[in-house]
Amino acid sequence: MNKFLEPNILALAALSAAASFSCAPVFAQVDPSQMVDAFQNANGKFEGFRRSGAKGVCATAEFIGSAEGRALSTSSAFNGKPVPVIARFSIGGGNPRAADNAKSQRNMALEFDLPGGESWQMGNISAPIFGAVTPQQMLGRLVSLTPDAETKKPDAAKVKEFADANPEVLLQGKYFASQPVPASFGKVNFWGVHAFAFVNAAGSKQYGKWVFEPVGGTQGLSDEEAKAKGPDFLFDELRQRVAAGGVAFDFNLQLAQAGDKLDSAITPLPEERKKVTLGRLTVKAVSPDATGACLTINFNPMVLPKGVEASADPMLAARAAPYAVSLGRRLVEGPKQ
Ligand code: HEM
Repeated sequence: MNKFLEPNILALAALSAAASFSCAPVFAQVDPSQMVDAFQNANGKFEGFRRSGAKGVCATAEFIGSAEGRALSTSSAFNGKPVPVIARFSIGGGNPRAADNAKSQRNMALEFDLPGGESWQMGNISAPIFGAVTPQQMLGRLVSLTPDAETKKPDAAKVKEFADANPEVLLQGKYFASQPVPASFGKVNFWGVHAFAFVNAAGSKQYGKWVFEPVGGTQGLSDEEAKAKGPDFLFDELRQRVAAGGVAFDFNLQLAQAGDKLDSAITPLPEERKKVTLGRLTVKAVSPDATGACLTINFNPMVLPKGVEASADPMLAARAAPYAVSLGRRLVEGPKQ
């Protein structure tokens, strides 16, 4: 295949996969170009890079589903055979030079390549909650954070006014401030944040929220250790840790009960809800550079396999269109990371 055509074909495949989801709830969307412009205005425009999660690396992984997974869902992801996974680890935000040693968001995006050409895409973050509850609130927050043309800084009064009227937007920042800087991409939890439904062979539907938890536990750095590591340590650390065979996550699902809130990315399920392990993800290799299969994927969380369904969380369906716009822009510019 002509290598210059390939990214565009992949982009079309991603867009058509995004268009094929069947159960998107009906709600007021934000214009996706306006949303992506707001990311660029708030974070700066970095041509070729993802407008969020800009600093990242591709990896390959393998997933093996468990009997508990099979009991909850007919998805072939849980058939017990190794499933190839394309992964991407990244730092939150649109800045490709973001510091690795800040108390901020880390991401793990995954594409499970299932039998029969089916895909399951997801973008997981290192917090149990997101920074906004509706796409409109997210847009408002980004607008409030946009630097003033003259001072080159956000207007503190506007930031405060928006946050006072929308206190939910501060919750995620408070969570990160309470946590240490992760010692490794392989030593931090990654949450899906939204609820999804798992549908089994009998047609029964179990809602839940998932978290990928590192086998062997999490590990954080002290403030002094984080400072000493400097702004660029996480990617080589991941390469070394994976080469030594040391990066695996349990894919755990917290099971919702009747009455639990299933439509909010800022409300975790009650801590005491039962957790089951759907399988284990083992990272096999990390790209030595900025290339790799993840480069032209946009990890649209509405690309779901049969046996897994979207919840009515308005933030979930709202991700598909801006991700496609961001992918379209970076493909035209020449994809980078
Ligand atoms: C309306 C809400 C949201 C908007 C507009 C938005 C926007 C974006 C955009 C434009 C990208 C870059 C896409 C690309 O170029 O491939 C991105 C990446 C990402 N987003 Fe969001 N996002 C939203 C909500 C969320 C939520 C709720 C989560 C929490 C799980 C999340 C997690 C991620 C992750 C992990 C990535 C990086 C994926 C990768 O490595 O490619 N986003 N987001």
